[in-house]
Amino acid sequence: MNATPAPILMMEHVTVDFDGFKALTDVSLSLSPCALRVLIGPNGAGKSTLCDTIIGRVRPSSGKITFKDEVITDLAEQEIVRRGICRKFQTPGVLPTLSVMENLLVSARKNRSFFRTFTTKVPAEERESAESILEKIGLTDRRDVIAADLAHGEKQWLEIGMVVATDADLLLLDEPTAGMGPQDTQRTAELILSLLGRHAVLVIDHDMSFVEALNGYVTVLHQGQILKEGSVAEIRADPEVTAVYLGRSDDDDAAAA
Ligand SMILES: Nc1ncnc2c1ncn2[C@@H]1O[C@H](COP(=O)(O)OP(=O)(O)OP(=O)(O)O)[C@@H](O)[C@H]1O
Ligand SMILES: [Mg+2]
Repeated sequence: MNATPAPILMMEHVTVDFDGFKALTDVSLSLSPCALRVLIGPNGAGKSTLCDTIIGRVRPSSGKITFKDEVITDLAEQEIVRRGICRKFQTPGVLPTLSVMENLLVSARKNRSFFRTFTTKVPAEERESAESILEKIGLTDRRDVIAADLAHGEKQWLEIGMVVATDADLLLLDEPTAGMGPQDTQRTAELILSLLGRHAVLVIDHDMSFVEALNGYVTVLHQGQILKEGSVAEIRADPEVTAVYLGRSDDDDAAAA
């Protein structure tokens, strides 16, 4: 039996209105468990707003969002997080005075409280899981470094690790390669692809070389609406997408990120 799995996430006809300005208009998309979706679009297209809406930080004025067969449209953000969605913001949000390992332990789902992390013994299982995430994000040798002292790319990877440590079923990654050079960008793509066995991932990015390395299903947002969906090759070949988005040079993208 090769039945397609039920989507883990469904957005149906979602519109977001900021005092008369429609940041999203009638957006529908769905994502299967452990699948990858790449969201691209010019500055101000509504990409971050889409993530904010999924996680409950922004309320749609109409439409419905379903996660694991439950309607979550009206749930509070912490309730949505508890159900298994975790979001990485556009700017890295690591805890700067803690070490790499401590950052991961604080994020681990069963260990959310900062206080508990440092006053009770961390169970072996959680430590092992943090070790395996350290290896995945390539920071095993940097485990005791204070997060403030990490290089920019390393901070981004640590934050991806922190999202992974929550063990959420759906990870929302907003511009994980912002400010990275080509080599770090390539590594980030490999890291994200390595997460798909366990998590569904929605990733937003401007960098087409990164989008190509991910080679996932792409959704193009433009002025709050879905302009086009398809493979990277289909997106690349689409004249409308080229006109509104890909016509911009990579330098423009880097400046905009
Ligand atoms: N809280 C808000 N109130 C009013 N307008 C908002 C609010 N948040 C976002 N907007 C507007 O909604 C539009 C979409 O913004 P959003 O941040 O989602 O774009 P984006 O695609 O993530 O852009 P970027 O590539 O620059 O990150 C923009 O015009 C923005 O100014
Ligand atoms: Mg954004």
